[in-house]
Amino acid sequence: MHIGIPAEIHAGETRVAATPETVKKYTAKGFHTVLVQSGAGAGASIPDTAYQEAGAVIVNDVSQLYSQSQIVLKVRAPEAEELTLMRKDAILIGLLTPHQKERIEALASYGLTAFAMEKLPRISRAQSMDVLSSQANIGGYKAVIMAANVYQKFFPMLMTAAGTVKAARILVLGAGVAGLQAIATAKRLGAVVEAFDVRPAVKEQVESLGAKFVEVPLTDEEKAKAETAGGYATEMSDDYKRRQGELIHERALAADIIITTALIPGRPAPVLIPEGTVQAMKPGSVIVDMAVEAGGNCPLSELNKTVVKYGVHLIGIANLPGLVATDASALYARNLMNFLNLMLDANSGELKIDQEDEIIAGTLVCSSGEIIKKA
Ligand code: NAI
Repeated sequence: MHIGIPAEIHAGETRVAATPETVKKYTAKGFHTVLVQSGAGAGASIPDTAYQEAGAVIVNDVSQLYSQSQIVLKVRAPEAEELTLMRKDAILIGLLTPHQKERIEALASYGLTAFAMEKLPRISRAQSMDVLSSQANIGGYKAVIMAANVYQKFFPMLMTAAGTVKAARILVLGAGVAGLQAIATAKRLGAVVEAFDVRPAVKEQVESLGAKFVEVPLTDEEKAKAETAGGYATEMSDDYKRRQGELIHERALAADIIITTALIPGRPAPVLIPEGTVQAMKPGSVIVDMAVEAGGNCPLSELNKTVVKYGVHLIGIANLPGLVATDASALYARNLMNFLNLMLDANSGELKIDQEDEIIAGTLVCSSGEIIKKA
């Protein structure tokens, strides 16, 4: 098979879907040829020569790359100009934004078979393929680093000859993969951390990282509803949201830095820090809104901008993993390779799409142009 690695053209995307390490593994048995567009690794500091040394063929002309590639590995969903270059029998794997119906319709209209990595089931067997986790982990780390950069005070408590400096107080909203890494990173920098999540199951994880769990008391009915079978959060009742809002407002006023990561798959992000809370926060506070692309956990944050409102710095950078492009690409590329290996026969290199496999069935969004409706 020919596996194509085009350069990402989405504005600001620095990551790449294969690295020399994965190229080497794809080509090891001689079954597959990897075509890498010249410059595809530049944003992640991977030169063409590194790909070549790993066994890839560097292609200058992107239309040539697409016309030869039966499998295309991408970070972002292809733009219209990329779709027109793809083979009708191509298999596409990437972060294809499956919640955007028109995106999937576009892929189907070109006859493609496509796998959206966002739909990967959260089961143990799929952990090594879990791009949402690998990238959210990096995002959570970078969010804290970005906050530390803007924040005009120290993170750790310091006792100096010139007096004592108080530790920064950090509030993390949403303690999933990104939130837990944000907690761990902030703790390493010496901050005092507390965190909140609608899923009561995360309390133990938050506490095991040395942070305090901020708890909104739940009724039995709310407890049962707070988490789906897949481990994701669900939309909560209006009464719960009111109680949650009051508590978060109170904790926000005590915080110096807030990192928000709260997402509900396929829905707009919940508003957790309304304008009134920002207005009441201490001047010089920092909010990093990691949900900014899904509408934001704070209505004042602006996509891909850092702004100051009511004296509070709001960081709304959507692609935080893209700011750690080398490691983000390394993990992403391994995730895709582990996923693709599910379908590539180790002895013959042949591709087989087994729709009985829940990982394959879960991620398949269109098959030879036919949109696969999920239950
Ligand atoms: P996510 O990115 O969809 O959401 C981030 C966090 O926001 C979640 O913890 C969610 O509960 C929280 N949230 C949503 N609405 C909220 C609200 N109104 N207020 C406060 N918090 C809110 O979630 P992510 O990080 O992708 O993880 C989802 C779950 O899947 C987690 O339990 C994670 O541990 C689990 N997981 C399981 C894996 C496995 O293989 N078994 C792999 C990766 C994640």
